[in-house]
Amino acid sequence: MFKKTVMILSMLSSFTVGAEQDTRLHVDFPPMMQEHMMSNMRDHLVTLQSITLQLSLQNYDAAAEAAEQRLGMSSLDDHGAAHMGKMMPKEMGAIGTRMHRAASRFALVAKDAAVKGDSNKVFAALSEIMTQCVACHAAYKIH
Ligand code: HEC
Repeated sequence: MFKKTVMILSMLSSFTVGAEQDTRLHVDFPPMMQEHMMSNMRDHLVTLQSITLQLSLQNYDAAAEAAEQRLGMSSLDDHGAAHMGKMMPKEMGAIGTRMHRAASRFALVAKDAAVKGDSNKVFAALSEIMTQCVACHAAYKIH
């Protein structure tokens, strides 16, 4: 029984990303910027949730609107991106820019799907947004 538990535990830990060595680069932001960035992050996640819900209802226009306004190029003014971008390492800022562009591209693809009803491309475009979330999270930390 014990042996079995240990085996399962060790299998679990080898599959858990968190158990691997943390190679993320620590980026030092002033506390206010940290808070601002984390609040943006939580909003990013809410937006993805809302986009997937809208897609499940085949409300492609609503998904496009959420992506463009809250993650896309139209969201840049709202979340002080220009200021934040300057404080980031160059590559980190570039990933952020790629995420905003991917969200605006998603919005176009979703609007297209609203007309054609083809959802495959929409999910591929959603995955491209999420690729940038994953890329940045894998490379950087601020805490
Ligand atoms: C340019 C880099 C970057 C991009 C792009 C990015 N994040 Fe983050 N995110 C971070 C960093 C850095 C942290 C903090 C990690 C740490 O130090 O703990 C974070 C933390 C978070 C958190 C935790 C918030 C909290 O309050 O603890 C969530 C949720 C999150 N990100 C969601 C997302 C989602 C969803 C996306 C994509 C739509 C995304 N992020 C894109 C850099 C990024």
